[in-house]
Amino acid sequence: MYKLGTAFITGASSGIGAAFAHQLAKKKKNLILVDKQKERLAALAATLQHHYSITVEILTADLSNPVDIERVENRIAEIEVLDTLINNAGFGTSGNFVEIGLAKQIDMIHVHVIASVRFCRAALPGMVMRRNGSIINVSSIGAFKPIPGSVTYSATKAYLITFSEALQTELTGTGVRVQALCPGFTNTDFHSTTEFVNFNRSRIPKVFWMSAEEVASKSLKALRKNQAVYIPGLKNRLLVILARITNRFPLVLTWIRKNLSNIARSHKE
Ligand SMILES: NC(=O)c1ccc[n+]([C@@H]2O[C@H](COP(=O)([O-])OP(=O)(O)OC[C@H]3O[C@@H](n4cnc5c(N)ncnc54)[C@H](OP(=O)(O)O)[C@@H]3O)[C@@H](O)[C@H]2O)c1
Repeated sequence: MYKLGTAFITGASSGIGAAFAHQLAKKKKNLILVDKQKERLAALAATLQHHYSITVEILTADLSNPVDIERVENRIAEIEVLDTLINNAGFGTSGNFVEIGLAKQIDMIHVHVIASVRFCRAALPGMVMRRNGSIINVSSIGAFKPIPGSVTYSATKAYLITFSEALQTELTGTGVRVQALCPGFTNTDFHSTTEFVNFNRSRIPKVFWMSAEEVASKSLKALRKNQAVYIPGLKNRLLVILARITNRFPLVLTWIRKNLSNIARSHKE
């Protein structure tokens, strides 16, 4: 069915996933899009087919459900010209580990880790055989610092970084590239769920927000440079450096917090 290259994207109907879908469609890739909500997926597929004259297949699946994961995995394994896999589906939670329902955290491990690992394993034999393929696992800058209040989120995203880095090293010379994409604050629906009712976007300085389109386009460009871990945006890279320093020297964080609140107080007075 697919003569040209085909890209497979999870969490494709919104935010960063939808931005990837538009940008790859523009490059004339045929697409297989996965998400939970059929209507949203169908609407996106119709738009992409209309604008770019490509073939778009949609798969409705809840990737927290092992049966759905297996169904999607089987579909990936049978695509003969799959050259791009983007494991992007994801969600956040807000609250302490002991307070959030365990089921939600297990769901997150399925969506972020189990689905991504199984989809990579399903896609790779064909990609290696054809000596052509790109895999993007969407992680987060939240992976670089264990985050109280997002314990399972930061742990699952850290898994994706280590997994992608090691996989990229194993695949050197095979023609297959792997990237862990680590976005910072991105303007999508991610923070619009009921989990984040108390999240106030305006508390994050505007300069730290990026658009989904910018994140996706920078990621696709970086793929050409074979960077196993890619953080889009200079400010996000600086935040990660700061996170690494404060991980090693926690007193630096205490010092920053104290001085920032002193500065804020002196501005009010
Ligand atoms: N936005 C940020 O600030 C930010 C920062 C760092 C990393 N990220 C990562 O970027 C990725 C994309 O997020 P986004 O910002 O584009 O948010 P988004 O607009 O909410 O998109 C996430 C997509 O994943 C889908 N999804 C969630 N759970 C799923 C499940 N169980 N099965 C199938 N699909 C599921 C969502 O579908 P529904 O809407 O139907 O749930 C949605 O279409 C995520 O992995 C996220 O962790 C985001």
